[in-house]
Amino acid sequence: MCGVFGYSGEEKEDLAGYILEGLKKLEYRGYDSSGIAVFKKGKVRIIKEVGELANLRKRLKGKHLSGNLGIGHTRWATHGGVTRKNAHPHTDCLGKIAVVHNGIMENYEEIKQKLLGLGHKFKSETDTEIFPHLIEEKIKKDRNLSFSEAVRLSFNQIEGLNAVCACCSDGEIVAFRKGSPLVAGLGEKGNFVSSDIPGLSCLTRKIVILEEGEGVSVTKERVVKINSKTGKRALAKETFVDMEEKEAARGNFPYFLIKEIFEQPEVVARVAASDKKEIKKAVEMIKKSWGTYFTACGTAAHSGLAATYMFSEIAKRHVNFAFGSEFPYFNDFLVPKSLLIAASQSGETMDTLEAVRAAKKKGAKVLSLVNVPSSTLTRLSDKTILLKAGPERAVLSTKSYIAKLSFFLLFAYAIAGRLNLGIKILQETSKEMVRMLKRGLEAKMKKLAKKLSGCEHIYIIGRGVNYATALEGALKIKEASYIHAEGFPAGELKHGVIALIEPGTPCFCIIAKDRAKEAVLSNAMELKSRGGYIIGISSERQSVFDVWIQVPEVGAASPIVSIIPMQLLAYHLTLIKGYNPDRPRNLAKSVTVR
Ligand code: G6P
Repeated sequence: MCGVFGYSGEEKEDLAGYILEGLKKLEYRGYDSSGIAVFKKGKVRIIKEVGELANLRKRLKGKHLSGNLGIGHTRWATHGGVTRKNAHPHTDCLGKIAVVHNGIMENYEEIKQKLLGLGHKFKSETDTEIFPHLIEEKIKKDRNLSFSEAVRLSFNQIEGLNAVCACCSDGEIVAFRKGSPLVAGLGEKGNFVSSDIPGLSCLTRKIVILEEGEGVSVTKERVVKINSKTGKRALAKETFVDMEEKEAARGNFPYFLIKEIFEQPEVVARVAASDKKEIKKAVEMIKKSWGTYFTACGTAAHSGLAATYMFSEIAKRHVNFAFGSEFPYFNDFLVPKSLLIAASQSGETMDTLEAVRAAKKKGAKVLSLVNVPSSTLTRLSDKTILLKAGPERAVLSTKSYIAKLSFFLLFAYAIAGRLNLGIKILQETSKEMVRMLKRGLEAKMKKLAKKLSGCEHIYIIGRGVNYATALEGALKIKEASYIHAEGFPAGELKHGVIALIEPGTPCFCIIAKDRAKEAVLSNAMELKSRGGYIIGISSERQSVFDVWIQVPEVGAASPIVSIIPMQLLAYHLTLIKGYNPDRPRNLAKSVTVR
């Protein structure tokens, strides 16, 4: 979480505005607060604001802060509340060194106590603030020490997974990374640092990839790599990254979330048109492995869970699933012939990356499904399948979930030797999704949202592959509308959860035309008998339903169509409650802390 951005180059009339533009592309990483530091002729101006970047923009209105060096930050709070004081950049006692940071400095308390003992004054409650003071202390002790050396030595003192970016008045930005993502970029009139490659889209295609423990010194003239352990410096070599993805625009849609929901039929069609050779290569890795494990977080995790059912039913293959954050405690049986399949929209989720690193330590192979090209996960993997869902800007993940489900379905059919059938199912599904959305599904879900907006709890049940759909539907509803929603395996209700059902409690029942159908219907009846208000998501009307949300009959692709009504419901509940569907509170699109 947190986005960092920096520029060192030719003087810009409105450097503050320029840095804001850079931060705009990183705002998905956190929007608790934001701030910038702009340097001109040795003087620094720091402006910070709480809340979305738009608030900082308002504060900057009319102030054309020119300069040749600047850094900016968009924050997802970890240490210290959401206040202007805790917003980055943070400075040293003299206010000359400015620092922005992504990660957690795990030993900050101990370092802070030492620095306080040495007379340093702190203004915030953050872990980050120790960093400029550490640099200040090092320079105070050794006047001959260069700024970049002081930053490197300070970086080596901190523990945890961090990306730190520091600058002072002499035109140089010094940044280091360990665990957290960071890249540099070479521009025409200046050079950059950014938390990720998309942050530099529209600015440059010449990217300097930083490996673990590497740092950079970025000046107007050059980008020099620094080894954090030895201090060895070398002129950085750039990689050309084709940023085909144009800056995503909302078009005629009021929010990215609704636009991305409506893009889903196209995403499924695109997956169906994937290069068969690529699918076959991925499938060969699965077939060769002595055990296949899925890992992912959040919405991506639900796609992994769905995949375990698809693999069992379609490919007759046993696979395992564990959340990224749980995987390191679950990997003792990995051997070099094991395969880990990691799925991630951003390719930067720390827990997923840590799972991959743990697997690699055991010598296992890694296959990844990633939406953002050139992200860290793609670099760690033996093979990557790009989801090609296009830029996903809403914090709620929708179209990349659909893309992952579609690829997993293709993998399962390919293992079974029926790849063409898998492709055909996806092609049909895509067409059916277009029809379903045209038939007025959104209006229906809007009407239902009005009815449900005042309720406290929503329950969702499904069996088999649609147990994953139930979990994902509940996640969509709660993360956007803040209404408590829970997904359950339908059969588990009678073992406890049914106690929560009262007259009128909304219960979504996902009923596909598969082998689980009769059992889920019975569970729906059990809920109805206790007064549950039954909303059926199904291709067939059933007498138990109080409301029927019709979805097309698409066989094994049922999780792809069944999630859409709940995505739409989440969107409309959120609007009715007056929240921003693209930016739910407390969340970030890419979670880069563990
Ligand atoms: C965050 C987002 C979720 C997302 C999860 C995993 O928690 O808010 O929407 O599903 O991260 O992200 P990834 O980029 O790895 O798919």
